[in-house]
Amino acid sequence: MTEEYLLEIRQLKKVFPQGNSKIVAVSNINFNISPGECLGLIGESGSGKSTAANMIAGLLDITEGEIIFDKKILPNKSCRKGFQLRKHMQMVFQNPLSSFSPKMTLLYSICEGLRYRRKMSRNDMVQKAYETMEMVGLKREYANRFCGELSGGECQRAAIARAIVNEPKLLICDEVTSALDVSVQAQILRLLLRLKQELHLSYLFISHDIALVSNISDRVAVMKEGNIVEEGTPDDIINYPKHPYTDLLIRSAQMKRK
Ligand SMILES: Nc1ncnc2c1ncn2[C@@H]1O[C@H](COP(=O)(O)OP(=O)(O)OP(=O)(O)O)[C@@H](O)[C@H]1O
Ligand SMILES: [Mg+2]
Repeated sequence: MTEEYLLEIRQLKKVFPQGNSKIVAVSNINFNISPGECLGLIGESGSGKSTAANMIAGLLDITEGEIIFDKKILPNKSCRKGFQLRKHMQMVFQNPLSSFSPKMTLLYSICEGLRYRRKMSRNDMVQKAYETMEMVGLKREYANRFCGELSGGECQRAAIARAIVNEPKLLICDEVTSALDVSVQAQILRLLLRLKQELHLSYLFISHDIALVSNISDRVAVMKEGNIVEEGTPDDIINYPKHPYTDLLIRSAQMKRK
C-alpha cells in the first residue's frame, strides 16, 4: 500500500541570480510529510531552510521541482489558484510582531484568518476567534489589545491562533521560538505539541536548535548548503548520525550547552 502523504516535495530547487553569478539556495531536495506528522528541518544559517519553506508556502516562486499538497500539484506563488490550494497550509514566523498590523486588534487579526469562510457570519467569526484564543492559552480580555501590547510569548501565541483559526492541515513553523526566552520557548513547544494531537496537525518545524527540533519532531531532516544530507528519527539523528555534518551540528549544540 502506498502511503498517502499530505505534503510531497520533489526535486525542489531555488536559484537566486546574483550579478553575473547565482546562488543555489535549495538544490533538488525531496521529502514527505504524512497527516499528523512533524518533520523537523535543521541546518546551519544559510543552509536554505527558509527558502524551502517560503517556496512551499507560496511566498517565493520555485525554480524547478514540484510541491504536492493534499494530492494537488501547487502552482507557483503568484496566482489565485495557488492561493486557493494553499488555504489549508499556514506559516508562523520567528518575529510575530512583524506579521501583525500594529493598527489591528488581536480579535480583528485572528478573524482575518477566516477570510476564506465566505459564508460565515460576523458573530460566528468572533466566536471562532475567541475559541481559538482559548485553545492557545490567551485570555478573552486580550481581544481588544494590539499585538505591540503583548509579551513576545503572548504575541507568538496570537500568531499561532491566527494560523490555526481556519483549521489548516499543515503549519510551517520557521524558527518560531528563536526570539523567545528559554522558559517561554518550552511553553510554545508544549502548546504546539498539544495542538498537533488535538487537531491532528502536520508540521514542518524549522530551527537550528537540534534539541528543540528533536523534542517535537517524528522525523528530522538535516540541510547543508541547499541539500538534505540526512533524514531519520530524532533518536537516529542524535545518537547515530551518519553524516559528519550532522555530527558537527550535534557537537556544537552540546558545546553551547556546556
Ligand atoms: N532573496 C534572496 N536573494 C538572494 N539570495 C538569497 C535570498 N534569500 C536567501 N538567499 C540566500 O540563500 C541561501 C539560503 O538562505 P536561507 O534564508 O534559506 O537560509 P536559512 O537556512 O533559513 O538560514 P537561517 O538559519 O539563518 O534562517 C543563503 O545563502 C542566502 O543568502
Ligand atoms: Mg531561515
